[in-house]
Amino acid sequence: MKNPSEALIIALDGTIDQAMDWAQACQGAADWVKVGMTLFYAQDPHIIEKFLAMGYRVFLDLKLHDIPHQVESAAAILGKLGVGMLTVHASGGPDMIRAAKRGSVNGAKDAGVGPPIILAVTVLTSMTDEVLEQIGVESSALEQVKHLAKLAVESGADGIVCSAQEASTVREAIGVGPAIVTPGVRPKWASSDDQARIVTPFEAISSGATHLVVGRPITGHKNPQIAAQEVLSEISRARRVGKDTRCVP
Ligand code: C5P
Repeated sequence: MKNPSEALIIALDGTIDQAMDWAQACQGAADWVKVGMTLFYAQDPHIIEKFLAMGYRVFLDLKLHDIPHQVESAAAILGKLGVGMLTVHASGGPDMIRAAKRGSVNGAKDAGVGPPIILAVTVLTSMTDEVLEQIGVESSALEQVKHLAKLAVESGADGIVCSAQEASTVREAIGVGPAIVTPGVRPKWASSDDQARIVTPFEAISSGATHLVVGRPITGHKNPQIAAQEVLSEISRARRVGKDTRCVP
């Protein structure tokens, strides 16, 4: 069984300086860091290279959503960076997802690096059934998550990002192969914040998640390395009890 650190993604949601400090503090405990829009758009052109040089794999969470032609070109540029995961919106449809995959594979090939895992974001956890209705979606959020997850995987996505509470439903819909990456993870010892639909690392792994995105419980801890190690213990414990349905692509 792989080291639990390959399942842990630290969300670096802060300034460039903070992100570098957190990444340094967590070295060895997590294989991955997540770079979202804010950090990426902060305009340090070398930010990805810096994390890669520190030995991290990078989850670039830019949630691409545009016409297939645009997404293909953008994914080709991002594919050259050597990132390990890249997100797109599943609601962009099959052609857009295929274009993201194609673009990222071609870009990575041009740069001589491995292609990223393409992850499809289904329904943002900020979207309620009511908001979905407002934008013309009649199914419930969970039904829509299931539908989009299946569609995304059938269109070539390598995995899904969903709330940890949806992981078991998504796993059932997409089978054992694809990655499931879940934010909204809170160890029991973490203080409460704005995340509402939360589950523990143990529960998330037991529900079929392959990777956990954890931000503030680690980055807000006085010793991020210790906090990360505690999350790793929970991942190992969940795997030991044999409920881990992982099959990382
Ligand atoms: O600090 P925290 O653990 O809440 O960070 C979770 C990370 O996952 C943040 O970067 C947040 O933007 C992201 N995320 C989320 N819920 C989603 C999708 C992404 O919390 N549905």
